[in-house]
Amino acid sequence: MPTLSSSLPTPTRVPRVAQVALWATRPFAFLDYCARRHGDAFTMQFPGMPPQVVFSSPAAIRQVFTGDPEVLHAGEGNAFLQPVLGSHSLLLLDRAAHLRQRRLLLPAFHGERMQSYATVMRDVTDAAVDRWALDRPFALAPELQAITLEVIVRTVFGIEQGPRLADFSRLLATFADSGNSPMLFTPPLQIDLGPRSPWGRVARTIREVDDALRAEVARRRAEGTAGRGDVLSMMLEARDEHGDPMTDAELRDELVTLLMAGHETTATSLGWALAEILAHPEVAARIDAELRAVAGDGPLEPAQVAQLPYLDATVREVLRLRPILPVVARVLKAPMEIGGYALPAGVMVMPCIYLTHRRPELYPEPEALRPERFLGARVDPYAWLPFGGGTRRCIGMAFALYEMKVVLATILRRARLSLTRGYVARVARRGITLAPSKGTPVVMHARR
Ligand code: HEM
Repeated sequence: MPTLSSSLPTPTRVPRVAQVALWATRPFAFLDYCARRHGDAFTMQFPGMPPQVVFSSPAAIRQVFTGDPEVLHAGEGNAFLQPVLGSHSLLLLDRAAHLRQRRLLLPAFHGERMQSYATVMRDVTDAAVDRWALDRPFALAPELQAITLEVIVRTVFGIEQGPRLADFSRLLATFADSGNSPMLFTPPLQIDLGPRSPWGRVARTIREVDDALRAEVARRRAEGTAGRGDVLSMMLEARDEHGDPMTDAELRDELVTLLMAGHETTATSLGWALAEILAHPEVAARIDAELRAVAGDGPLEPAQVAQLPYLDATVREVLRLRPILPVVARVLKAPMEIGGYALPAGVMVMPCIYLTHRRPELYPEPEALRPERFLGARVDPYAWLPFGGGTRRCIGMAFALYEMKVVLATILRRARLSLTRGYVARVARRGITLAPSKGTPVVMHARR
């Protein structure tokens, strides 16, 4: 560990404007370059932003994830998402307000609840596989997005099958797409110049979603939540320490947040998982053997998902090798010592998911896909952090891991897929996530 120093870790020598360009276009190559030159900690500096201090040693990451949430703020860096997510969004809040929303939401995302969503996850995937063309190349990305969207609309929003499901899904898909709009990251462009102007269209979709959600919440309050297990029903039942329920505005903002945080992230991770599994026939064969041993020729039953250690290890290994977000971020509200550096208030601290996951002393031959690393192993939360950590750890982690297993098991059992000839997955930016290039093109040779 370096000796305590009162300055920031070594700044990268790359000019500031070039740093932003590299971050936008080749973030992993840029991070590799900085780590090769400067080691475990270094400072990036984008124009007009506070210094961004990147850490990749588990000891420093532990300090960030176990540090005082009063000092380490995550919400304020996301303020630019306010026009879409709303001011009550879990992603935007800090301190007591964050803790209140998080406590209200946590019970709905408890690991034990996931089994009740398994049937929907499996059926939605089955229906998607039924639609896929045989012997013709297609990109998996839009298919996986359609699956994760419908799963959220049914299990989180609690919309049942029927015409309302299609209407809701269409509206929310348009809305979720605006999450990739460059305008979202550039507030000066957010000017409503009428229904045909770019931000005007986004603003109208936001209003339509607000109206639809308000109507849905009113309907569900009137109907009551008895016998329902969806996330919205649990949010309607939740009470804070004063016995108060969530307000309509809070419900709206959290529903939209869960959609935006949970839909594309899971679809993109599934795209990486299939790209890696199909490129490694030995891994595909072991998953297949495990599925046959557990489920025979029948459909995968919810209780069987817990009996698939190799599939579970594969999912964790894919999230290690192919994290969809390179870093998580906290803004320091007071000076703090991290990794031997006395950091001043105002800097942004970034535990680096990508660089930590590529450390050879933690993961020998870090560039190889080796699910065995996670078989029967205890997962160190400061060395494996695709879902971030501490009081800000992804609230949907259990949901996403479970959904990835059910969707992968269903696809791999039903569809004989191969990557299109010559395809090698490269990293492509899609909004804030890093996705496999070309949307993972595949051919389906047979369907069961
Ligand atoms: C493979 C899929 C997913 C990945 C890789 C992922 C990753 C992440 C990461 C890195 C964070 C930030 C954590 C931090 O700052 O320490 C986060 C936060 C969050 N995620 Fe996920 N996520 C996924 C799926 C989901 C799903 C399915 C949902 C909900 C249905 C969800 C809801 C959220 C929410 C609400 C937060 C904010 C938590 C807070 O600030 O307290 N995510 N996620």
